[in-house]
Amino acid sequence: MVSNTTLCIAGGATAAAILGTLIYWRKKHEIIPWTWIEVGTLKEIDLYPLKSGRRIELTKVDVTEVGLRQASEDQKILVLRDRFLIVYTEKENEFRTARNYAKMVLIEVSAHDADHVLLDAPTMRTLYVKIPPQKPHKDVHVTVHRGEQINGIDCGNEAALWLSRYLLEKDFGLRLAYNDCSEHRDMTKTEYKLMECFKNFTRYSGGVYHDLTSIMLMNKASVQDLNKRMNNYQITVKNFRPNLLVEGPPPYDEDNWEWIKIGNVIFRNVAKCYRCFMTTIDPETGLSSSDREPLKSLEQYRPNDCPSKSPAMGVHLEVRKTGRVNVGDKIYVTRRKQ
Ligand SMILES: *[C@@H]1O[C@H](CO)[C@@H](O)[C@H](O)[C@H]1NC(C)=O
Repeated sequence: MVSNTTLCIAGGATAAAILGTLIYWRKKHEIIPWTWIEVGTLKEIDLYPLKSGRRIELTKVDVTEVGLRQASEDQKILVLRDRFLIVYTEKENEFRTARNYAKMVLIEVSAHDADHVLLDAPTMRTLYVKIPPQKPHKDVHVTVHRGEQINGIDCGNEAALWLSRYLLEKDFGLRLAYNDCSEHRDMTKTEYKLMECFKNFTRYSGGVYHDLTSIMLMNKASVQDLNKRMNNYQITVKNFRPNLLVEGPPPYDEDNWEWIKIGNVIFRNVAKCYRCFMTTIDPETGLSSSDREPLKSLEQYRPNDCPSKSPAMGVHLEVRKTGRVNVGDKIYVTRRKQ
């Protein structure tokens, strides 16, 4: 016979186990907070269809698991996505960016119709590029940072010729790949997850051809502070190529945010954005600054050990709840416990 006491203990143990599991699950999955602090407004939205190419400035945008997607209500026109095109080498299938060819920042991409984009660049004729249907086109694996390989679909010989002429002044060498954004990278399966500064990456963090996560956010006041520290040189926030620009909070407040809410969209701050030579390229001229600014000044007051001593500016976000955001939306955050 089972006594009441035994039942009681068994029941208590079960309840404790369930509660324990719940607490563990909540901690592990970092549940979205209930209370928020208003810190400012969304000032600018920029989408970069081509990795290292020119931005498109938007007043509203859809935020998806793989990053920004143009909020086009017109279904007949191709909807552009952030970093869904990438330049790669014909021979080794290795990605190329403005770090290799600074004038890449001047390449403009726009949607022409349901399955064509237009490429434009100074001195070049406008090129119509057919965006390949998902299959059965030639699949490529484009090698990006740290040997990581990301799927792509090659965009054909005309785009290859156009890019090679513009960037190499040759008739071959570079090609264009397109990602259909049907899946995103799992950053927990990359080397980054092993590095202290990227240990907060989760399976939600990856984009497509983004360097790291699918969204990069910056704070206007941080860039203004940097400008104050530089002698005889000024930059705009566009040197840093953020997707979302916030106005209102004090400089570097963004470093301490844990969760961010804009409209119905919820993001989690998973890493600082460590900066490279790319920030020295003027996005309007495609020329690098002669004295490594703003990187030189940033290195002086924001030193860092991870990775390779690059100074940080801006934050990498992962998307936890998708939806639409608009310029002018209020920004709500929770701050990390200090
Ligand atoms: C990881 O997240 C925790 C909790 O928000 C935070 O305290 C820590 O600073 C983060 N680490 C990095 C390297 O971003």
